[in-house]
Amino acid sequence: MASIYIAYGTTEGQTARIAEFIADVLRAHGHEAETADIKDAGDAIPSGCDAVMVGASVHMSKHEEYVKDFVQKNRETLERLPSALFSVSLAAHGDAENAESYVEAFEQETGWRPSQVALFGGALLYTQYNFIKRLVMKRIAGGKGALDTDTSRDYVYTEWDGVTRFAEDFMARL
Ligand SMILES: Cc1cc2nc3c(=O)[nH]c(=O)nc-3n(C[C@H](O)[C@H](O)[C@H](O)COP(=O)(O)O)c2cc1C
Repeated sequence: MASIYIAYGTTEGQTARIAEFIADVLRAHGHEAETADIKDAGDAIPSGCDAVMVGASVHMSKHEEYVKDFVQKNRETLERLPSALFSVSLAAHGDAENAESYVEAFEQETGWRPSQVALFGGALLYTQYNFIKRLVMKRIAGGKGALDTDTSRDYVYTEWDGVTRFAEDFMARL
């Protein structure tokens, strides 16, 4: 049984939901999993953990700065322990090239080259955005064939089977 720390950044909550889902998969296989929003938990990785996952979401083509800081501060630990990155974006739903370019920039900025990377589709939470954000997101979505533009409801593009497979592949490395 391993003790796995899942540290993430989230702005509207989808990466947090994915982190909790991964933790449930790991626990169902007998591992200990702790999720932590880096905003609240800070940069320390608890001593005694055996593996670390890092999650971050993309806004305006960038992952959260505080996740990059976390990775830079903990790079040595991330390179020593089994570790993985999951990146959450709308581009991951139908625009893989862009989704990969966000991760490439993240790796260049942090200097961390994770041995396992997953790109997960995020969510369009129109009903939770304010007026301006809803307009902006609708316009962006309208320019991409793969995304929905009915702002009276929300859309989740995360493929949960892919998230399960990512967690299983991670466990196979422990
Ligand atoms: C204001 C705003 C800007 C965004 N910019 C991008 C972007 O540049 N590229 C992209 O692929 N997704 C973009 N997204 C989509 C988010 O990555 C997606 O909503 C994701 O689910 C957010 O995860 P979080 O809730 O964990 O922060 C944006 C979303 C918002 C609300």
